[in-house]
Amino acid sequence: MAIGDLIGKISGLDVWGLIAGKKGKIVGLDIGSHAVKLMQISDKGGRATVEKYREIPLEKGVLAEGAIADLGKLVEAIKRLVKEARCQGMGVAMSLSGQSVIIKKAPFRDMDEHELREAILEEANKYFPFDNMDEVNFDFQVLGQNIHNPNLLDVVIVAAKKEFVESYVEAVTLAGLKPLILDVDSFALETMYERNYEYDEQDLVVLINIGASITNINVVKNATSVFTRDFSLGGNYVTEAIEAQYGLSFEEAEKLKLYGPEDTCQSNDFKHEILSYADPIVLEIERSIDYFRSTYEGNEDIKEVILSGGGALLSGFPEELSDRLRIPVSLANPFRNVVLNRKLSEAEDLKHMAPRLAVVTGLALRRVGDK
Ligand SMILES: Nc1ncnc2c1ncn2[C@@H]1O[C@H](COP(=O)(O)OP(=O)(O)OP(=O)(O)O)[C@@H](O)[C@H]1O
Ligand SMILES: [Mg+2]
Repeated sequence: MAIGDLIGKISGLDVWGLIAGKKGKIVGLDIGSHAVKLMQISDKGGRATVEKYREIPLEKGVLAEGAIADLGKLVEAIKRLVKEARCQGMGVAMSLSGQSVIIKKAPFRDMDEHELREAILEEANKYFPFDNMDEVNFDFQVLGQNIHNPNLLDVVIVAAKKEFVESYVEAVTLAGLKPLILDVDSFALETMYERNYEYDEQDLVVLINIGASITNINVVKNATSVFTRDFSLGGNYVTEAIEAQYGLSFEEAEKLKLYGPEDTCQSNDFKHEILSYADPIVLEIERSIDYFRSTYEGNEDIKEVILSGGGALLSGFPEELSDRLRIPVSLANPFRNVVLNRKLSEAEDLKHMAPRLAVVTGLALRRVGDK
């Protein structure tokens, strides 16, 4: 599941009029707080193929809690990416994450789409902490019959403040792209999973994306979301702990985290130490899964956890998480079914950091009108 034409519904833009982007091509753009990632996937010969990949680091503070704090710097960064990847004028699929977006599931009686939209608006204050829904953009998807009452349909509603949506639309537009699809990080993960993994109808799988500042959790059954939660912790937390412990700058601490100490004899101890700094992330994941289990209405238990995001690449983290949760944990591979163009010079790097590319791959796979 994903939110199809959030921008069209949200900002009153004529999506179909915009599709005329350069040769109708779409790029996925994952605007993260640590890096902005751009990927283009073609559907040549019916096989999703990565044609382009570029990323650019973002200074700390350009994004804050999923919102754009420095529009000028963000536009500059995306402009450089667009230029390097030569994709000026192309359409873009991007996503919101963290506190900029709220996802709720609620039962409604069976009705047509227009009536459902009205009903959601009427009952909005039951689900969302907004006084005025005029300031909010929302979209929804019918998931299926409610487990307790067959006369009711479960509907997932996604809402974002207009000002957030407009700032993202403005950023990519100023950078020379055409905003076509606005998704949510956790649903982009789902698209990545749906296209790359085989699953049975009853399989409950937890998709987790640990970024630099936000972690997204999406529990999916039959590749459809049954629970989502974002929390504001990620790889930066570990860097900041190293920063405080050793009296380093953030940049120095980041380097130490990624490459370890110069004295390789200390390397094992150091690995253990930084793994312990990630403990609050593990705890928050445990808490979310406990909460999910206590509220889940089905009988199945979780089959596995698929981990993505740069924060998940911390040495020993998947093993630690698996021990704590007592659930098999693996790192996501968005390139199981999505192939890498042989001419792509970055192919080896992409394979190496594949779990970090889960969200951008899910976005690059989106097409207008596909959901
Ligand atoms: N090999 C690695 N080992 C440990 N940490 C890593 C590794 N590679 C990247 N990271 C960490 O992953 C984080 C960046 O991950 P990612 O690119 O997924 O973040 P982002 O999408 O920009 O952030 P967010 O989604 O939270 O806004 C940083 O904290 C970085 O230090
Ligand atoms: Mg991210």
